[in-house]
Amino acid sequence: MITSLRGMNDILSEDYERFTYFINTATTVAQRYGFHFIQTPLLEETALFKRSVGESSDIVGKEMYQFIDKGKNDVCLRPEGTAGVVRAFIQKKLDRAGGIHRFFYHGAMFRYERPQKGRLREFHQFGVESFGVDSVYEDAAMIMMVSDILKELGIGYRLQINSLGDNNCMPAYRKKLVKFVQECKDGICEDCIRRVETNPIRVLDCKNEKCQELYIGAPKLIHNLCSGCSYDFDTLKKILEDNAIVYEVNTNLVRGLDYYSKTAFEFVSDNIGSQSAIAGGGRYDRLVEFLDGRPTPAVGFAMGIERLLELIVMPEIKREGYYIGAMDENAVDLVVKIAQKKRKTDRAVVDYKAKNLKNHLKAADKINAKFCCVIGEDELTSGTIWVKDLEGKTEAVLKLEEF
Ligand code: HAM
Repeated sequence: MITSLRGMNDILSEDYERFTYFINTATTVAQRYGFHFIQTPLLEETALFKRSVGESSDIVGKEMYQFIDKGKNDVCLRPEGTAGVVRAFIQKKLDRAGGIHRFFYHGAMFRYERPQKGRLREFHQFGVESFGVDSVYEDAAMIMMVSDILKELGIGYRLQINSLGDNNCMPAYRKKLVKFVQECKDGICEDCIRRVETNPIRVLDCKNEKCQELYIGAPKLIHNLCSGCSYDFDTLKKILEDNAIVYEVNTNLVRGLDYYSKTAFEFVSDNIGSQSAIAGGGRYDRLVEFLDGRPTPAVGFAMGIERLLELIVMPEIKREGYYIGAMDENAVDLVVKIAQKKRKTDRAVVDYKAKNLKNHLKAADKINAKFCCVIGEDELTSGTIWVKDLEGKTEAVLKLEEF
């Protein structure tokens, strides 16, 4: 038997209902914040991710589904959504148009990671990207949007925030950090030895316990911000406090993608095991320029849908539409015709086999129909249909032309 690939799942039935419920809720909230839908291809040039997510990141270094296509192009399945949206933003010349452009998207992402609970090779994200707003109020709006989505879904969270500085303060901090790490070089893991060369601040979120102990005394980014970044970070905290959003400052939060500067944030859940990040994002003011566009401030986030599906509190499913069945083989054609009429405005599900009333009622209940409608021999002769309201528990025999 051929099965799906490791770390790639089918989504159907109850999971699909949760999935669409999530997408609908997140879409409604994003639209309330003035965001518009964008869809970008699943496949992009590999260079796009190398230049944006960064060669030193685990995503590009180890996890890309990369191959040479029949036209000898080096391509890969997108590991995340931001790079493609930025590419589209520049390609459509929106960077030259100026103004504010706000997008949301959802879809499959691919990372060749070691699969485990909450960590898949094909997973789905809901994300938003905002271009053209050079204000920390927009960063706060991102955080409030995630918070609104999670609240609507009944999901509790912890919010961690940090500032990654900018071109004014990051280079000097990086030097200080490298000096510190080099002094404890003998004890650090292989990955950190590599990170010191490629992207030193990534050592701060190393998962190795020994490294973490060694870095306890490391200089903190937050204490080395320039006055602009420091002011923005204080403002962000104040906006969150004013809007009753509880946060923790995590000075080791650096995020696994290279394009961030200034605000970085992550939402975590304590109820889904070790893969606890349910959303993450931040500001990436240099990326548009880095991908050959006009300098444009930008900020965004993405939420991991599969991780959220485990946590969603679904509203009570309402009964909806019609179940229509025949109690006599001769009534099947009529039942199909009636269903076609009903489908112009409502859901109508037909059973093509003649059955007794008890079985029809069971089947109607199973699909959560509001009405169970049945045509038997008597109804056929009298041109009527028997209808039971499964919510109100009332029943009636109606003339077909009135139904
Ligand atoms: P990210 O933190 O790499 O950020 O991913 C965002 C979310 O996707 C994570 O918090 C997690 O919930 C989910 N996720 C990531 N990897 C997996 C996986 N292997 N299996 C299941 N879920 C996963 C980004 O992707 C950035 N593009 C976010 C962003 C948008 N920053 C600015 N704009």
